[in-house]
Amino acid sequence: MQKEEIFKIVEKQNKWRSECLNLIASENITSPEHDKVYVSDFMHRYAEGLPFKRYYQGAIYIDELESKAVELAKDVFHAKYVDLRPISGAMANMAVFSALGDYGSVLLSPGVLGGSHISHEKFGVAGILGLKTEHAIFDKKEYNIDTDATIKKIREVKPKIVVLGGSVILFPHPVSEFRKVCDEVGAKLIYDAAHVLGLIGGRKFQDPLKEGAEIISSSTHKTFPGPQGGIILSNSDEKTFKKIQSKIFPGLISNHHLHRIPSMMIAALEIKEFGEDYATQTIKNAKALGRAMYEYGFDVLCPDKDFTESHQILVDVRKNGGGKKVASTLEKANIILNKNILAFDDVNNSDDPSGLRIGVQEMTRYGMKESEMKYIAELMKKIVMDGKNPESVREEVIEFRKKFQKIHYCF
Ligand SMILES: Cc1ncc(COP(=O)(O)O)c(C=O)c1O
Repeated sequence: MQKEEIFKIVEKQNKWRSECLNLIASENITSPEHDKVYVSDFMHRYAEGLPFKRYYQGAIYIDELESKAVELAKDVFHAKYVDLRPISGAMANMAVFSALGDYGSVLLSPGVLGGSHISHEKFGVAGILGLKTEHAIFDKKEYNIDTDATIKKIREVKPKIVVLGGSVILFPHPVSEFRKVCDEVGAKLIYDAAHVLGLIGGRKFQDPLKEGAEIISSSTHKTFPGPQGGIILSNSDEKTFKKIQSKIFPGLISNHHLHRIPSMMIAALEIKEFGEDYATQTIKNAKALGRAMYEYGFDVLCPDKDFTESHQILVDVRKNGGGKKVASTLEKANIILNKNILAFDDVNNSDDPSGLRIGVQEMTRYGMKESEMKYIAELMKKIVMDGKNPESVREEVIEFRKKFQKIHYCF
């Protein structure tokens, strides 16, 4: 292997994805101002501990930045406490769950069929920590948690941790409705905002902390357009937050990848300044894509609820050959999205599930609006419904993407 080969592969990736319709719901693109701060001397350094209380010398400027970053995040998300050190969303969950649960105690979440991330499950972080997992009752028609039935279940199974939010989230979850029952059984109410953090910051989705969640754990690179990383926000008591912080360090992370911090600050400033417009257009685009695909005959979920109130839509593609086949066919046309398990699937069939999950947050950041969503639906229809060769549609995708290279909702 020669070094030229490395450069070439990276170049190929950059070119390819700039010619694609990127519709993965868990990704986003950072702005040019990020690039100015992301590759810096910070990426070589350690700063164990908290700002101004480090175990390493040389932390003068990360102290200054990280303390300001914490204040900025408090301001954007209306949180009393913030920790930016988790290096990913799963790590943030690990810190929170390990602080609030004991081996054998119960964590209740919607479960992967209800949209939970794997880290909420027995085969992910929750299982690694020895937590017993229980699932909320999920209303497949409403595509949301059945509030009353789940409140009953919470009374029965008495969890120590209740996790709302998730990787598939079309509609707001019943946060305020669950707060009372969580207090009653002594459970902590957590909201995993990895997907919707940018919509929350833009004030266009539910505000979990305001509605009664004690803690938000999240990643920072989906609808929140930051670098890949994690964050924990809280309005709970100081003792609980300090316990979580002790799990982050010295528990889980000694080097918190310092170069993420200024880059996350740029994203937070962008959300503060442009977040409302960005979130509004993202949700409009998701609805528009759902509607256009539905009109072309796709089985988009929840047509009677205008498809979604977030950045995502779900499509049942069983009649089109299943999630695996459709997602890989579309990839040949440079339309990038992922197969996804739907609520009525067999949980063990994640390799070839019924659905597609489509997110519009990245293409919205490239300036696309409702009319572009209609065109994307048309491109997908040509391939999936009309059986057109995806390689021939790829040329149309590349031509179309050429017009959307500039990143919007940034300085
Ligand atoms: C709801 C949710 N939580 C946590 C994670 C994990 O985040 P990360 O990939 O940053 O570890 C994801 C990832 O997609 C997610 O969707």
